[in-house]
Amino acid sequence: MPLSISVRPSDSGVVETPLLAIVLPRSRELAPGMDSLDRAVGGAISLALSTGDFRGGRDELLQLSGYEGGPRRILLVGMGDGVGNRAAIRRAASLAARQGGKLGVGALALLIPSAGAELAEDAAAGLCMGAWAYDDLKTPPPADERRAPLTSAVILSADVDVAASAAARGQAIGAGQALARRLQMMPGNMCTPQFLAATAREMGERHGMKVNVLGRAEMEREKMGSFLSVAQGTAEEPQLITVEYNGGAEGTNPIVLVGKGLCFDTGGISIKPAQNMEYMKFDMSGAAGVLGAIEAIARLGLGINVVGIVGATTNMPSGTAVKPGDVVRASSGKTIEVINTDAEGRLVLADLLVYASRFEPAVVLDAATLTGACVIALGHTATGIFGTDDALVEEVLAAGRSVGEPGWRLPLWDDYRDLIKSDVADVKNTGGRAAGSVTAALFLKEFIGDYPWIHMDIAGTAYSENDMVAIPRGPTGNPVATFVEFVRGRVG
Ligand code: BES
Ligand code: MN
Ligand code: ZN
Repeated sequence: MPLSISVRPSDSGVVETPLLAIVLPRSRELAPGMDSLDRAVGGAISLALSTGDFRGGRDELLQLSGYEGGPRRILLVGMGDGVGNRAAIRRAASLAARQGGKLGVGALALLIPSAGAELAEDAAAGLCMGAWAYDDLKTPPPADERRAPLTSAVILSADVDVAASAAARGQAIGAGQALARRLQMMPGNMCTPQFLAATAREMGERHGMKVNVLGRAEMEREKMGSFLSVAQGTAEEPQLITVEYNGGAEGTNPIVLVGKGLCFDTGGISIKPAQNMEYMKFDMSGAAGVLGAIEAIARLGLGINVVGIVGATTNMPSGTAVKPGDVVRASSGKTIEVINTDAEGRLVLADLLVYASRFEPAVVLDAATLTGACVIALGHTATGIFGTDDALVEEVLAAGRSVGEPGWRLPLWDDYRDLIKSDVADVKNTGGRAAGSVTAALFLKEFIGDYPWIHMDIAGTAYSENDMVAIPRGPTGNPVATFVEFVRGRVG
């Protein structure tokens, strides 16, 4: 159930709520305006601060008892040194909502004494993040054992008008992230290429956006031999999905977002080991990120043109599957030697990047769970960012940093190009283990058109196998927030 968020003045006296979450920076002093609450709970907050039971460090949590007729529970949430920092607010709000979900209180109020009203956007986005859950496929426990999911939140702010519109924006972003995470979490037998296409069509109808879907036959007509070589091993119809959001002036060049949508990646004939293979349902996270971002952008009504392109298929071993050594031809005309059928994402993206040119993009950003090497290099913390335009790279890094989806630049130097030279074709699809993320990005670069381009390797950041404090194990919705922030920064 989506979280409903409202805003109330922070100075209107006692708040009656099952849980009051107060986000505090690293400090041993009571935040201004908290004296009366502190008195009402017998000085428990100031005592926790003076004893050092709560110090306001990042992710620190301390729950105190409240009182009947006011906040029945008080949760102190530490934000460390993140005063005024949007990413820190998102994180703390997410943690508060997550805790509210675990307690089963159903509703909470959030107070961030150090945050201006504008930051209610990040508070709301964070609350949505923390309240998200996926239990569509679980039988609900009997009513008396059920814990109430968090369904409503109140943000307390000194400037209700500013905070209310900011919170509405945060909810729009939260809805995009929730959509992405739901698509990510859905198993491969449910989130099929056709399901992604249906999701895009449904979004298109809701927001009045043009959605176009190419199937196998249309892709054959477009001579997308690279994408089709991945899809040739599956009975499932591959789908090349485009969604056009036209919020800007007619004819202005759109921002094009491209997403890898492998609804499952077995590796194909170069099959993956069984251990952890189930995680490869997340191999459509780039596609989820694109659809989630467009959902948020449409809800925000941003005055700019954006096109989403998703390449959806499933990488399967079968009698018809592409084999190591096969040579295929992409829609640009370039030939590719398929060394490893598990390097399929780049084969799909190659044709998508060629296809992107027809939209005359102002810029193209692609997101893909492209390489295990990126997880080794950067873990689940930073997205690998590749690009040749320094200013554009910085623009994407800054967008990600401000919303808590940090990226880290990796080289896209021609010095690595020799690693993907083929004996028989123009290029080969793998360059060996060394610099695996770099050679994957260099492979993509072979297929870009005449547009500024950024590649985001989200293999580590799109989901996590471990609990990440503010976000549980599983899908993160990354890079929805980065996309939205980047696009917003480009609204003229
Ligand atoms: N989808 C995987 C990359 C991946 C691996 C994402 C682990 C998240 C976690 C991709 O299609 C893949 O299999 N890449 C290969 C490339 C290799 C064969 C050159 C890899 O990283 O092992
Ligand atoms: Mn693969
Ligand atoms: Zn893959």
